[in-house]
Order: sequence, then structure tokens, then C-alpha cells
Amino acid sequence: MIITIDGPAGSGKSTAAAQLAQRLAIAYLDTGAMYRAITLPAEMERLAQTCNIRLARENACNKVWVNGKDITEAIRRPQVTAAAHLVASNPAIRAQLVVKQRDIARQHPSLVTEGRDQGTVVFPQADYKFYLDASPECRAKRRWQELKQKNLDLSFEEILHSQQQRDQRDSTRTVAPLKPAEEAVVIDTTHMTIEEVVDYLYNYVKGKR
Ligand code: C5P
Repeated sequence: MIITIDGPAGSGKSTAAAQLAQRLAIAYLDTGAMYRAITLPAEMERLAQTCNIRLARENACNKVWVNGKDITEAIRRPQVTAAAHLVASNPAIRAQLVVKQRDIARQHPSLVTEGRDQGTVVFPQADYKFYLDASPECRAKRRWQELKQKNLDLSFEEILHSQQQRDQRDSTRTVAPLKPAEEAVVIDTTHMTIEEVVDYLYNYVKGKR
């Protein structure tokens, strides 16, 4: 069983995807972490092909290693967030990462995978497809709170501005643009708590099975 969750930054998909996977006791894949991991070192395409990206959920945290080095914290820095589009808009790099994503899926009987193109491009045959969204202000507020917890002092306006740029780039690029899959269940999480989102996804999957 494959469950895809796509949506823009701050729509709640990472947290919801991880918690849904936990409740269903199945694997979880954060594909944004792959794009961030490749953005960090600068060798791009060759790296996308040859590097070993390992992802694992440990103590409610998405841990990431490249060639054995723990880069979990480094890939969440605002500089990497701002630069990830350079990697994400490159078709050759995307093709390499899509191969890796499908390989990971083959290694697990069931998987919740989240990103921008999981339902549209990577797993068109997924059993369940969701698209999470929320108002730009709400998503920026969530990101602001998240960064504040990590003592990264960015203003709300800065975050909203860079988020608008990221949304624009993600949804207008020619290769694998951000959009809901045709069959996706679209959920506006603006006025929902994370528990409500996870309950909804869980009940949907359980009810339909
Ligand atoms: O989800 P996250 O914010 O970690 O993703 C970082 C960036 O990677 C996004 O802004 C997007 O450009 C890119 N991405 C993508 N396709 C995916 C996942 C992420 O293009 N499947």
C-alpha cells in the first residue's frame, strides 16, 4: 500500500505523514529531505546518482545521512531552504531521486511518502492520495514558530516572503510542478490541529480499506 501526501511548505504534511505512518505502523518517506540533502553539498547531479542518502525516523525526528554523515540539522537551515529550488528544478537530478524514492518504496510493504510530486509523478498508482494545503499566512506562522523553537530569529514577513517565492517556483516549474493529483483528496488544514489532520487521514485510509 502506498499513501502519498503532497502540498506546499507549511501545509502540515511532514508532521501528518510521520504521525499517520506511525499510527498505521508502516514506513515513512520525507522526499523534501532528499532535495535538501543534495542542495547541501555542491556536486549536484553526480552526487544525486552516487551518494547514499539514508533517511530514518528516530525519536520523532527525521534523521538524514549522506555517505554516513549526519546532516539532519544542516539541511533545515534557511540557506538550504532558499537554495533547494536550484536542485528541485533540475530534471536530471529529479530523475535520480525518483529512482531512489521508488527503490525505498520497494523495500517496504507499505509506505506514507510526502513531497510535491509523490501522487502526480513518482507513485501514480498509489492506493491513497492526499493534498494538504493551508492559507499562506497560516503556513508562514507555523514555519515561524518552528524556527523560533530552534532559536533561528527570522521575522514573520521574511518567512512569508520566501515562502511565496518557494510556492511560486514549486508550482510553476516545468518538471513535476506542485499540484494535487487528479484523484487526490484535498484538505485545507488552516483551521485544523495536527491531531485533527492525522485523525482524518487515518480514518479515511481505515474506512476505505
Ligand atoms: O518539503 P520540503 O520543504 O522539505 O522540501 C524542500 C524543497 O524541495 C521544496 O521547496 C521543493 O522545491 C523541493 N521538493 C520537490 N519535490 C519533492 C519534495 C521537495 O521539488 N517531492
